[in-house]
Amino acid sequence: MKSSTFFFSFFFTFLFFSFINGFKPSDSILLSCGSPNNAADADGRAWSGESSLTDKILTSANSTSATALFQDPSLPSPVPYMTGRVFSANATYNFPVSKTGRHWIRLYFYPASYNNLNPDDAFFSVTTPDGLTFLKNFSTALTAKALTQAYIIKEFSVASSADGILSLVFSPDTNHRNSYAFINGIEIISMPDVFSEPVNMVGYSDQTIEVGVSAMQTMYRLNVGGQYIPATNDSELSRIWYDDSPYLYGAALGVTTSADKGLNIEYPSSLPEYIAPVSVYQTARSMGPDPEINKNFNLTWVFQVDGNFTYVVRLHFCEIVMQKVNQRVFDIYLNNQTAETAADVIAWTSAEGVPIYKDYAVFVSDTDGDDEMWVALHPNVAARPEYMNSILNGLEVFKMSTNDGNLAGPNPEPSSMMMEDELDSPASFAGKSSKKATVIGGAAGGAAAAGLFFAVCIVVYRRKRKVERAGSDGASGWLPLYGNSHTSASKSTISGRSNASSHLSSLAAAGLCRHFSLPEIKHGTRNFDESLVIGVGGFGKVYKGVVDGSTKVAIKRSNPQSEQGVHEFQTEIEMLSKLRHKHLVSLIGYCEEDDEMILVYDYMAYGTLREHLYKTNKPPLSWKQRLEICIGAARGLHYLHTGAKYTIIHRDVKTTNILLDENFVAKVSDFGLSKTGPMMNQTHVSTVVKGSFGYLDPEYFRRQQLTDKSDVYSFGVVLFEVLCARPALNPSLSKEQVSLADWAMSNQRKGTLGDIIDPALKGKINPECLKKYAETAEKCLSDSSVERPTMGDVLWNLEFALQLQEAADSGKPVDMDISENPAGSGHGRKGSHTLNGSIGAGSEVSGESDESSNEVFSQLVNPRGR
Ligand SMILES: *[C@@H]1O[C@H](CO)[C@@H](O)[C@H](O)[C@H]1NC(C)=O
Ligand SMILES: *[C@@H]1O[C@H](CO)[C@@H](O)[C@H](O)[C@H]1NC(C)=O
Ligand SMILES: *[C@@H]1O[C@H](CO)[C@@H](O)[C@H](O)[C@H]1NC(C)=O
Ligand SMILES: *[C@@H]1O[C@H](CO)[C@@H](O)[C@H](O)[C@H]1NC(C)=O
Ligand SMILES: *[C@@H]1O[C@H](CO)[C@@H](O)[C@H](O)[C@H]1NC(C)=O
Ligand SMILES: *[C@@H]1O[C@H](CO)[C@@H](O)[C@H](O)[C@H]1NC(C)=O
Ligand SMILES: *[C@@H]1O[C@H](CO)[C@@H](O)[C@H](O)[C@H]1NC(C)=O
Repeated sequence: MKSSTFFFSFFFTFLFFSFINGFKPSDSILLSCGSPNNAADADGRAWSGESSLTDKILTSANSTSATALFQDPSLPSPVPYMTGRVFSANATYNFPVSKTGRHWIRLYFYPASYNNLNPDDAFFSVTTPDGLTFLKNFSTALTAKALTQAYIIKEFSVASSADGILSLVFSPDTNHRNSYAFINGIEIISMPDVFSEPVNMVGYSDQTIEVGVSAMQTMYRLNVGGQYIPATNDSELSRIWYDDSPYLYGAALGVTTSADKGLNIEYPSSLPEYIAPVSVYQTARSMGPDPEINKNFNLTWVFQVDGNFTYVVRLHFCEIVMQKVNQRVFDIYLNNQTAETAADVIAWTSAEGVPIYKDYAVFVSDTDGDDEMWVALHPNVAARPEYMNSILNGLEVFKMSTNDGNLAGPNPEPSSMMMEDELDSPASFAGKSSKKATVIGGAAGGAAAAGLFFAVCIVVYRRKRKVERAGSDGASGWLPLYGNSHTSASKSTISGRSNASSHLSSLAAAGLCRHFSLPEIKHGTRNFDESLVIGVGGFGKVYKGVVDGSTKVAIKRSNPQSEQGVHEFQTEIEMLSKLRHKHLVSLIGYCEEDDEMILVYDYMAYGTLREHLYKTNKPPLSWKQRLEICIGAARGLHYLHTGAKYTIIHRDVKTTNILLDENFVAKVSDFGLSKTGPMMNQTHVSTVVKGSFGYLDPEYFRRQQLTDKSDVYSFGVVLFEVLCARPALNPSLSKEQVSLADWAMSNQRKGTLGDIIDPALKGKINPECLKKYAETAEKCLSDSSVERPTMGDVLWNLEFALQLQEAADSGKPVDMDISENPAGSGHGRKGSHTLNGSIGAGSEVSGESDESSNEVFSQLVNPRGR
């Protein structure tokens, strides 16, 4: 089979392409503009420099080559982004191409300062002489900003050009002063005719639309339920397929499945293999295991699109679990209209492992606000399928050119949510509903694209914000902020507030917290003086203040104009009203007057744990301090899980939610997202998945089952963060290092963890202690929640690690059973060395820690603590 294929493709080589098995593009041009030399990008694709080509194909009155000064760390590769060509007048590229077949045109932009020009001045159009407009009044700077990406890729597809020349005209926009055009990379590649069939218009039965004659823009191309597929892994068509999870709507993430190793993906003769690579069909997203839940939600993806265009939505299916007809039957909705009823992939393909795709056309009108494309799947209950479920393997969204050849939309505007985000506490982006993810990720995939997983995009963006903010106010969001408190389901303010206040008054009545008058609060914060702001959240601002003459407090004030966060506000009050513990931040009082909603907390003099770990000019914490802080935080969480009437799951455990008082006592804060256990069955679908990227339990993602072990997972990340003094996610590092959880685990398995610990700790940790600590963290990060220890076990182990360290420091052997650590020799010698390294810190805390270690055991017996 293979050899005959080879024979045929060889035989027809002089034709334009062979399409029996693969597709060999007859034209494949990769031009790295502004670069004199040929070079390869990070995927190993070879880009031509200009010397060989440009003279012949570029005509321009005024063009210069340029090199970007700064390489953004999120650029996937310096080629082709770091060099570009800048035009201050119209410029035309004429690429010789074959006269038949469609072509893809991929344009690569990196908005940076070239030749000292201001990137904000670049407004330009890209057109063809025969009347197609790809981009108009296009600002790369605005687009990149709105998409929170450093670079932009635009993919267009054009019908054959009769004269064998494909021309692209770059024209600076005349409506802007100092406007110029630029381009970093141009790719022209022959493509198979993937738009040959007429497509049904959704909502107009029997009406079809010819798409093959139009020019198209690829808006999104997703490997649903699977991974990012780089250009080099998609045959010779060099398409990029992105992860779909940023586009999922709401909490309903469904579950991802991949085909068993044994299952062969068999393309039927009617389906050419170039339609999509095998890896797209090998993975899928479907609904969860519970039929009752599935009946009550739609598996939905939401995409930002431009209004006044018709879109072709291509859905790729391949059944990789079911084998029989009527096992999985579902309806497909596009923009709330029925596109297909009773879709049954096995009925279409007649077998498991056989791919198929379906195209639907939808017109998206131009409405106020953001224009969106909704793709939703729901089990078809009427068909009474064996499983109430639906499936999708891949998804592409193409924009069709209008009758006058236009494909250009307006520049995207940074979403209002994103603007609010700029005010947010930099570290905290829990509670990001996927509505939000859609807004941010809306850019990430499809033609616009970042190579990394979308969470990373957000982090890149966050990181930038943080840098920008750091200079201005230096305020790190350290207090009990509500994460960023944006939920898509906004509760009514009135009910939220009245519930909250009834809680507060009952608290006050019980003497658990007191009422402050507004004048008291105003006096204590110098009438909400901006210089006292120590944190900002979606909910409002946090001020440092004084009450009762000298008691320092943190005052969280709701923004009177904002309805955001009322729900989290209420949750926090409910939680705090039930909880009192040495290692939980405590609510002192509240004030509710003149529409003001104000909470008063203990002041945490030393801020967040994170600000003592990295990107800081504070002195590094000693190892024992770190251990004690971790033990304190573990106690707080253990109390949450077991000490209260219900299991309470924090859901947002991270180093910015562990605060330190003036004695470095750790207190867990931010209960805005917490959930009590027994309610979970009813809420794990209707609830938005929350938490912070880098700390999120992968099983929680997969199964939508929130358990206390999700906190244990996040705490495992915290433990490694404390040990390695680096962020949970750092997108500027190489791929395998981006996620701390992955990086630390791979080092732990290889036995090289010692290489990545905080340099400030090198040589100061007793090896036995490190071993115990690392094993504990490793167990917390177990993939499956049942293998993770409970918070109580974690506490015990950390306590044991501390004893090992103390014993080593004092030269005495540990008087506990250390039989599981047979390599117990050498404590004394190494210990004394350690002691010399950190006398001050070590001796200062050692007195307290005996007491605290006793306390932990008593607390395990009596989990209510104090
Ligand atoms: C060419 O463009 C540069 C800026 O890109 C400008 O300074 C120069 O005046 C232009 N030259 C001509 C002849 O237009
Ligand atoms: C430059 O191109 C634009 C758009 O293609 C066109 O409207 C304009 O007339 C051109 N300018 C010149 C000087 O050719
Ligand atoms: C790309 O293909 C290579 C070789 O087939 C494979 O090792 C690699 O895992 C693939 N990468 C992805 C992201 O699919
Ligand atoms: C969309 O089309 C309508 C009707 O043709 C027109 O009034 C409106 O301005 C268009 N919107 C955009 C953004 O082009
Ligand atoms: C589809 O319906 C949902 C609510 O049912 C709504 O929020 C959304 O805007 C609708 N989408 C479109 C494109 O009309
Ligand atoms: C699923 O989406 C369709 C189309 O928008 C809507 O009519 C239906 O009510 C939704 N079903 C559920 C359970 O949300
Ligand atoms: C060009 O884009 C800018 C920024 O999006 C916008 O403010 C301006 O109105 C646009 N100009 C035209 C002529 O569309």
